[in-house]
Amino acid sequence: MDWGKKNRLSQIIKPETGRTVMLAVDHGYFLGPTHKLEHVGTTVEPLLPYADALMLTRGILRSSISPEISVPIVLRVSGGSSIIGADLANETITTSMEDAVRLNAAAVALSIFIGTDFEHQTLENLALLIDMAEEYGIPVLAVTAVGKEIGKKDSRFLALACRIAAELGASFVKTYYCDEFEKIIESCPIPVVIAGGPKLDTDLDAFKLAYDAVQKGASGVDMGRNIWQSAFPVAKIKAVRAIVHDKATPEQAFEIFEGNKKK
Ligand code: 5RP
Repeated sequence: MDWGKKNRLSQIIKPETGRTVMLAVDHGYFLGPTHKLEHVGTTVEPLLPYADALMLTRGILRSSISPEISVPIVLRVSGGSSIIGADLANETITTSMEDAVRLNAAAVALSIFIGTDFEHQTLENLALLIDMAEEYGIPVLAVTAVGKEIGKKDSRFLALACRIAAELGASFVKTYYCDEFEKIIESCPIPVVIAGGPKLDTDLDAFKLAYDAVQKGASGVDMGRNIWQSAFPVAKIKAVRAIVHDKATPEQAFEIFEGNKKK
């Protein structure tokens, strides 16, 4: 791997643990003003000291985030559809590689929609993006989107999607945690991080999700709603960090969470 690409990737996936806690705030690119992301800058600011990377679009980065931060940026560069439109999967590349470089992106992220009418189009997007990103040594994060069909989150489907992303040359892949998650890891030669998904019923459920994923071989999390929709987002991200980087159990993470609620 080229020095620049390796260096950028190691800013995100920390070499000390081989893991990462990415903070995802890109939801507005198809959901619009998501609850607690109405003012992204305000939501994100207290969480930044605990995030290994920040995932968002160029519009929110430029409008809402200080250029003086040291957290590496994973730039969402796919979009073009909305939750109320005809088909969420109908995505294109929305940001040029030159703009990603201007924004000092440590990586770029794009969704693929396997099994949809737009499978070919989104895989072509990924292949084109990788060709462009390789020119600059920028890693590509492929996101195995499931759109509205959240029921598709089984290991067979997600292993297929992750493997295809790896075959096309993605540097790392983001997917969902599911039963038999280890099957995804076994057949995917690149690092896998998990999305948190919609806010879970309890904080302990979120800690169990993160714990089970890293136990089964995930390289960390790219979590959004389960952190910033929490009543105690700083306590939540600190507890997730303890699981990902410090081998905390869900119960230990819960104690950290409780202990940080008042801080
Ligand atoms: C949407 C995304 C989001 O960044 C991803 O879903 C992570 O956020 P959450 O933990 O809220 O699911 O990539 O396609």
